[in-house]
Amino acid sequence: AVMSSPTKKFKVKLPESLPLETPFLPPGRSVALYRTGEGVYALSLVCTHLGCIVKPSGKGFECPCHGSFFGEDGSVKKGPAPKPLAWLKVTGSAGSYVVDEGSAVPMGTYWRA
Ligand code: FES
Repeated sequence: AVMSSPTKKFKVKLPESLPLETPFLPPGRSVALYRTGEGVYALSLVCTHLGCIVKPSGKGFECPCHGSFFGEDGSVKKGPAPKPLAWLKVTGSAGSYVVDEGSAVPMGTYWRA
């Protein structure tokens, strides 16, 4: 279930109407973007257990393969996943962002433009 993509960087427009702290899932990518009071961040939706793609569920993400659950910041709420979901590098401005699926950044690295 691991998606490989030739280009790791992609552009995404966050809808103006996206409510704060609601994930936006760009089509065809395994990434969720959040806009918060702190800035924008992107989470990889690749489960850190065996690489299945996690799905939004309640206030977080559930892995369909073995039931891991992650919070909205990617933190592990329920195993067997050993590590949080990766935060990905985000740049850009004015609602138009570039996410680099190939570059992880430390959890808590918000992009403010
Ligand atoms: Fe996600 Fe196993 S791959 S819990």
